[in-house]
Amino acid sequence: MACVVLSFLTILPVVMGDITGYLGDSVTLSSGANSSWILSKIEWSIFSNITWIATYREGTLHPNTDRFWQFQGRLRLNISSGDLEIRDVRIGDALVYSVLLKDIKGEQQNKNLRLTVTERLSKPSVRKVFSMLKDSHCVMALQCSSSVKDTHLSWEPEAAFEDAFWRRNPNTNVSVVWTSYSPNRNATFNCTASNGFSKASRVVTERCQEPDVVGETRFPGIAFVMLLFGIVFGCVLTYCFRVNYFPCINFLNFVFMCKMTCLKLL
Ligand SMILES: *[C@@H]1O[C@H](CO)[C@@H](O)[C@H](O)[C@H]1NC(C)=O
Ligand SMILES: *[C@@H]1O[C@H](CO)[C@@H](O)[C@H](O)[C@H]1NC(C)=O
Ligand SMILES: *[C@@H]1O[C@H](CO)[C@@H](O)[C@H](O)[C@H]1NC(C)=O
Ligand SMILES: *[C@@H]1O[C@H](CO)[C@@H](O)[C@H](O)[C@H]1NC(C)=O
Ligand SMILES: *[C@@H]1O[C@H](CO)[C@@H](O)[C@H](O)[C@H]1NC(C)=O
Ligand SMILES: *[C@@H]1O[C@H](CO)[C@@H](O)[C@H](O)[C@H]1NC(C)=O
Repeated sequence: MACVVLSFLTILPVVMGDITGYLGDSVTLSSGANSSWILSKIEWSIFSNITWIATYREGTLHPNTDRFWQFQGRLRLNISSGDLEIRDVRIGDALVYSVLLKDIKGEQQNKNLRLTVTERLSKPSVRKVFSMLKDSHCVMALQCSSSVKDTHLSWEPEAAFEDAFWRRNPNTNVSVVWTSYSPNRNATFNCTASNGFSKASRVVTERCQEPDVVGETRFPGIAFVMLLFGIVFGCVLTYCFRVNYFPCINFLNFVFMCKMTCLKLL
């Protein structure tokens, strides 16, 4: 009797801890036992009516982890540390857990833990809205989005990126970055999704190439056709100036159009 009173008196004050678990993952609730303790009793419970979910008594071979239907087959109790592992975490597991520990010397300790359950963020998705080469500048817009609601998205360029960029979040789950950078080099951007509990990033590298100047040596056939066009154009021009005849001007226009189309195709 004296022993019971003594152990009751030496019970340590309740401490509250917070822990985050991710849906479908495992989470370990720490009992907070002093590592020098040899545990003779472990009682993990939920609710104010102290519904046991996992217990251990000195002298028994195994802890009892199938005390409550909600956690059937999902608990693992470490009898030396008192820590409770919950596997395949579900939304309903977001509760306040209490653990009562007793050391073989009779000392007792109680701890409460609040488990928050959240979705582990997957990498955000990135889409190239447009990319073009204009006046020797690559102009590009990238959009980052997440299917998980209440996700904050942000774009960051790689440290070495020195060109201009603008960022906007038109929507809570969408972030856009516009940039104008020099061609023939990489532009690397990192989109990070975060919800206060976890983060996930996706890195994209884009590059635009300035087209090579068409070398005549590389396309001798085309150069020949161009030369032919030039001669015909020249001849017709000379003829038209001499005759100054209207249909001739139209023909000249036609040739000119042909030439421009050919240039565009190149
Ligand atoms: C663990 O218990 C020992 C002996 O009771 C004590 O000296 C030590 O400070 C305790 N450690 C912690 C972290 O409470
Ligand atoms: C304890 O409380 C929970 C929820 O409030 C209830 O579902 C459960 O039946 C109660 N257990 C006992 C033994 O009263
Ligand atoms: C139980 O906890 C102790 C101390 O934290 C650790 O060394 C041991 O590996 C754990 N046992 C299992 C089966 O996880
Ligand atoms: C962004 O969230 C809205 C609702 O908040 C949703 O309709 C839309 O589909 C989401 N966009 C993406 C890309 O997930
Ligand atoms: C540019 O990116 C490509 C692939 O995205 C990579 O192979 C190449 O090494 C990068 N170049 C530089 C200079 O970082
Ligand atoms: C992307 O950004 C996140 C968050 O800032 C960071 O943890 C990660 O290392 C970055 N990745 C790269 C490749 O820069």
